[in-house]
Amino acid sequence: MKQLIERLQKTSHLEKDEWLALLNAENDELRQYAAELAREVRHSHYGKKVYIRGLIEFTNYCKNNCLYCGIRAGNPNAERYRLTKEQILSCCKTGWELGFRTFVLQGGEDPHFTDEVLCDIVQQIKKEYPECAVTLSVGERSRDSYQALFDAGADRYLLRHETANKAHYQSLHPENLTLENRMECLQNLKEIGFQVGCGFMVGSPNQTNECIAEDLLFLEKFQPHMVGIGPFIPHHDTPFAKEPSGNVEKTLYLLSLIRLLLPKVLLPATTALGTLRHDGREQGILAGANVVMPNLSPTDVREQYSLYDNKICTGDEAAECRYCMQRRIESVGYEIEESRGDHISKQ
Ligand code: SAM
Ligand code: FES
Repeated sequence: MKQLIERLQKTSHLEKDEWLALLNAENDELRQYAAELAREVRHSHYGKKVYIRGLIEFTNYCKNNCLYCGIRAGNPNAERYRLTKEQILSCCKTGWELGFRTFVLQGGEDPHFTDEVLCDIVQQIKKEYPECAVTLSVGERSRDSYQALFDAGADRYLLRHETANKAHYQSLHPENLTLENRMECLQNLKEIGFQVGCGFMVGSPNQTNECIAEDLLFLEKFQPHMVGIGPFIPHHDTPFAKEPSGNVEKTLYLLSLIRLLLPKVLLPATTALGTLRHDGREQGILAGANVVMPNLSPTDVREQYSLYDNKICTGDEAAECRYCMQRRIESVGYEIEESRGDHISKQ
């Protein structure tokens, strides 16, 4: 199996049965070996730098009903909020002062944020902070809408594909949401010129290693600039309330394999990883991740952006999160980098 990992490092390619074999054989030794090679690759492209992105969770209204998600439309217990343009700009101001040069605007699919409303916000951020990158993560929209957002100045877009397996996709989503449309959105975003991120949850209900092998094949084919993966964590008000959480070790193993598959990819150590294990994000960095996304959302709404139970950092001010993250990164021998942190191909 170690030879397979070495071949992955050399060629950035494996066949489906080889992925499956690697996933099925996962153990401490293989995980450590994959992490070692992943760090080598990561150091050759990004050194010991870890990019920071300021995450602004600007609305928890959502018209969708993804079965895993705590802010799904069908959750009557979710207390809804949406930030005003002024509040979003105030988060950016705080973020700018703390050294952030990327703002990630994430939210549910909230019909309030029409192209007109969202483009105006993006334009204003880019006007006030021309040196910053704006990343959007607001779900599925039309090609024209993505184009308008790009023309307004948005640089990057995160849209996890969630799973590359059709049957699995349908088991996680209501019928009106299809893998086909998700993939079409990703293709459109790429063609328009965004730096694009896809990704998936590790250990979502009904996920098999076969599904993950298909995810990895999709990553190779799509060649995203960013990949967001994190463990699935149940939320008590969703149909998946009783499902078990994803596995931290497996998430770390996958971070390493993804680093070997896409050597230059921007790969976050996610909040979900830090939620399941106190040093999850630090371990993520040691496994090959090179991005962290501290929270810039106003403290009084943090609790309400509840995708899963026990989410960390809900009580902390932006500055606390920023410096907490710095300490964590430095504790494992890495350093925070305050530039925009574009993908190497787009610098
Ligand atoms: N609405 C946008 C979208 O669908 O891409 C962005 C917001 S959505 C909440 C962001 C991501 O959170 C999803 O792509 C999903 O992978 C992740 N997520 C949702 N519920 C989760 C859960 N219970 N555990 C872990 N991650 C979850
Ligand atoms: Fe829309 Fe989760 S169901 S953000």
